[in-house]
Amino acid sequence: MRKYRRQALQNVVQSRGIMNATAVSHPNIAFIKYWGNRNSALRIPMNGSISMNLDSLTTRTTVSFQPSLPFDELIINGHEIMGAGLKRVSEILDLIRAKANINARAEAVTENNFPSGAGIASSASAFAALALAGSKAAGLELNERELSRLARRRSGSASRSVPAGFVEWQAGESDDDSFAFSIAPPNHWDLVDLVAIVSTAHKKTGSTEGHAIAPTSPLQAARVEDAPRRLDLCRQAILNKDFNAFASIVELDSDMMHAVMMTSTPALQYWKPASLAVMEAVRMWRADGLPACYTMDAGANTHVLTLESEAQGIEKKLRGIDGVENILIARPGGAAKI
Ligand code: DP6
Repeated sequence: MRKYRRQALQNVVQSRGIMNATAVSHPNIAFIKYWGNRNSALRIPMNGSISMNLDSLTTRTTVSFQPSLPFDELIINGHEIMGAGLKRVSEILDLIRAKANINARAEAVTENNFPSGAGIASSASAFAALALAGSKAAGLELNERELSRLARRRSGSASRSVPAGFVEWQAGESDDDSFAFSIAPPNHWDLVDLVAIVSTAHKKTGSTEGHAIAPTSPLQAARVEDAPRRLDLCRQAILNKDFNAFASIVELDSDMMHAVMMTSTPALQYWKPASLAVMEAVRMWRADGLPACYTMDAGANTHVLTLESEAQGIEKKLRGIDGVENILIARPGGAAKI
């Protein structure tokens, strides 16, 4: 019965010239950060970056191109979005339309299973899912590299949510050679990301504006120059599953990015007292022999990385820290998929 109904719906969709597809993707946490662009229109970053997809957090996006629509439409978690958010989505749809040689406007309906105010970058999973669902709906068969390049155009970190597991985005110098690829599958290493939520307020300055002012910090040049070394150390630590080596380089890289943020004009300060309390506690636990390290993106919430065997104990300790409102738990996630 259900099969017939689905077939009937498909017939209606086809007879009206509607083309649709649904994709699912995960946000990611960067271990070596992307901060600053060489070319902001194309989002060619100043330095390469490394991240892990977050399995329990998902974005599901359906794109349908409909000849009867006068404009593109964007619906996120049931709310229609206009203005800058819609424009950014339309720009990706324009790239897809140009490649597929079609004109129809599209409706993009997206659902995140994580709270949007929780400081988890939803733009990474949003643009990865949009690039995949949109290109598929338009009849394109893009390979992983092409999809990563397409997602990158409107959110740099989205390039890293296309491939599976542990992912490296090579900076490259042009649209052609700036893309992400998997360096290890999700089951390679049993890392756990415990995201300590210390603030659910929407941040004042988003990453896009932050990238633009990165060059105003006198520390940015040194951060960028040293990036190849940090990328090598992080990649090797992941491949060798060497937690201590991983912890040192991940914390250093996060601190270096935040030092750049704090010394930009205008200065960006994302840390809250509870973020600092978590960082301090994590350093102490590691000195006592526990596998734990911290990293923070452009927000106050503090990601604590640990191993599966210690995750429960660390989660409990984190919940005991003043100002930690909640903990989200994620493990290495898969690729963006249809
Ligand atoms: C601090 O990818 O969100 O999370 O390209 O403007 O969308 P846009 O910026 P975005 O920047 C991410 C910054 C970061 C570090 C990282 O994820 O590498």
